[in-house]
Amino acid sequence: MQDPDSFTKRAASFGTNAVAYARHRPRYPDEAVEWVVGDHTRVLDLAAGTGKLTETLLEFGLEVTAVEPDDLMRAELIRLLPDVHARKGTAEEIPFPDASFDVVVTGQAFHWFDTPEALTEITRVLRPGGVFGALWNYDDVSVPWVAGLAELVGDAPHGEHTPRHERLGEASRETWRHSQRRTVESMLASLGTHSRMLVIEEAERVALFDKLRTYLWSRAETSQGEFERPIVTSGVKAVRV
Ligand SMILES: C[S@@+](CC[C@H](N)C(=O)[O-])C[C@H]1O[C@@H](n2cnc3c(N)ncnc32)[C@H](O)[C@@H]1O
Repeated sequence: MQDPDSFTKRAASFGTNAVAYARHRPRYPDEAVEWVVGDHTRVLDLAAGTGKLTETLLEFGLEVTAVEPDDLMRAELIRLLPDVHARKGTAEEIPFPDASFDVVVTGQAFHWFDTPEALTEITRVLRPGGVFGALWNYDDVSVPWVAGLAELVGDAPHGEHTPRHERLGEASRETWRHSQRRTVESMLASLGTHSRMLVIEEAERVALFDKLRTYLWSRAETSQGEFERPIVTSGVKAVRV
């Protein structure tokens, strides 16, 4: 069980590095977004952050609304995607009437709000027959150099969160493999957008990044210029009954 103070601090940490977040976090694969959205149209991107998932939803020509509590993350989303309807709100208090959406989807965020209150809100704003989906990008630790890096980072993965609520049917899961083109420095910049890195003391952060940089320069896979960072996207979805 995580320390609740640290959990709250981490959940609210992302805005301090919003520009780097938008620049260095990976996208979501089109197939994963298609798997959640199906042939629906009105989509809420919940906890939209700087709009990484919103961007792909828009490319699909969907009617997209973004909800994000953090002012700095939302400001970056509005700067990058000025045409999106973006509102301040949380998963526990979604600022829309009942049955407003066909799909509620959330990227890299369900673990921050997997609570009965959030699922009651999510199913309230979904119309019956609509879909709730959550996606996560993970570094693919089945690849040895990635496993070595993850060990140095030392952060516990947030595990599999399954949406369970009386207004949701049984959840289904899927995974996809893709990658992000990186260099040592842009890989470090990606890692620097993770909540743990944003909440630790400066001295600890500097020491950890020194170790990570040394490691990446020591590996044949990552020290020759550009390389592919292998990513697994994991998805879970359930239909609003
Ligand atoms: C790791 S970021 C993911 C942002 C974006 N969805 C993406 O895929 O890049 C997590 C986001 O969840 C938001 N968040 C944290 N707790 C939340 C809550 N209870 N309700 C809604 N959003 C929340 C944070 O402000 C942050 O923007």
